[in-house]
Amino acid sequence: MSLSQTVPPADPAADARPAAATSSSSVTSLLQDISTIGRDTSRGGYSRPVFSTAEMDLRNWFIEQAGRRGLDVATDHNGIIWAWWDTSAGTRRDAVVTGSHLDSVPGGGEYDGPLGVASALAAVDILKARGLRPRRPLAIAVFPEEEGSRFGVACLGSRLLTGQLDPDKARRLKDPDGDTFADVAAANGQDPRLIGADYRTLQQLGVFVELHVEQGRGLVDLNQPVAVGSSILGHGRWKLSISGQGNHAGTTLMADRKDPMIAAAKIMVNIRDTARKYRDARATVGRVQPVPGGTNVIASRVDLWIDVRHPDDSVTAALVEAIGLNAQVFAAEEGCGASLTMESLSPTVHFDGGLRDRLKELLPGAPVLDTGAGHDAGVLASHIPTAMLFVRNPTGISHSPDELVEDWDAEAGAVALADALAGLMGEARAIG
Ligand code: GLV
Ligand code: MN
Ligand code: MN
Repeated sequence: MSLSQTVPPADPAADARPAAATSSSSVTSLLQDISTIGRDTSRGGYSRPVFSTAEMDLRNWFIEQAGRRGLDVATDHNGIIWAWWDTSAGTRRDAVVTGSHLDSVPGGGEYDGPLGVASALAAVDILKARGLRPRRPLAIAVFPEEEGSRFGVACLGSRLLTGQLDPDKARRLKDPDGDTFADVAAANGQDPRLIGADYRTLQQLGVFVELHVEQGRGLVDLNQPVAVGSSILGHGRWKLSISGQGNHAGTTLMADRKDPMIAAAKIMVNIRDTARKYRDARATVGRVQPVPGGTNVIASRVDLWIDVRHPDDSVTAALVEAIGLNAQVFAAEEGCGASLTMESLSPTVHFDGGLRDRLKELLPGAPVLDTGAGHDAGVLASHIPTAMLFVRNPTGISHSPDELVEDWDAEAGAVALADALAGLMGEARAIG
């Protein structure tokens, strides 16, 4: 992987496109703007599932903010918003892309996703204030359904863009209410017939740098505000359906039950114990759904969703196989059946070495950290060089209302992103 030739930014006077008149915004003030959108008063934190009123409001907020900065904004067929800061040459090739997502997990934190979007807007302000006239165009991308909280497949938008998700499969995905992605997308102004791989857009992209709140304590321990990302842990999601006999809670003797909830309880403990046998493995059951779900009803079925992660994808496969076999045994002990299906799989991603080293040069002193969380940068990595910047999270907690970024670190993150983008935009051609 060869580094591109680095040249100083072109002469400001040579840029035909004037910066739009806009006052600069801090990351903190941008996040403040959206701090009431999607607040979840019952779970705490924020619930901003894709295509919810909250997520649509956030998208409109972003479109308005990008427009204020003179960026050329459009939403593509896959629901990805692109906001372009074009160069005077006017060609959209080899772009430096940044951005993140605005959807959240249920009851999530304030920063997972929006920090990267707000920092991208603030970085544009910083670059314009510095008088930067880019040689390469810049685009901010906002990806839908990064969390997979509504339709079960994480990074849905970037998977569609890159052809890593079959559009037919995507159209048939259902949310917890049984509504299909196709129907929900159509109800929100997107034509579901048009989703799928978009090589024309991909051809315009040179590199992608996603800034994200750190979802651990690496930076706290190192006493640093910003890190460069090195890799994303391989991860996947599986659905386990345990079927039993629905029945009456009062009239069914304990000895006569085929209760899938009991099997589910044993299986969940076993998942934890099995994962502990594999060094560096993580396995989580974060969602359990009894059917029909009544206090005085023995469930007829229990669905549970398992998230499994490991740096070595073959270990993930072995662990999931063990979980599935053990589930059969525990289900049978309760007179129940169990079936396991994969919903998504994302192999371990090592970010482009050349781009990572370039970011280390542009951000002297920033440590290099890996992450156990999934990101659109991981999906895009199969098509273009990608990289990440992480911003310190003093609690180390994420996917929770306790996720935190201090104001001064948010601003330091935006400056770091601006420095990284300026360096890359001043380059004559893409790294890779
Ligand atoms: C996304 O945040 C994930 O890692 O699941
Ligand atoms: Mn997340
Ligand atoms: Mn995220």
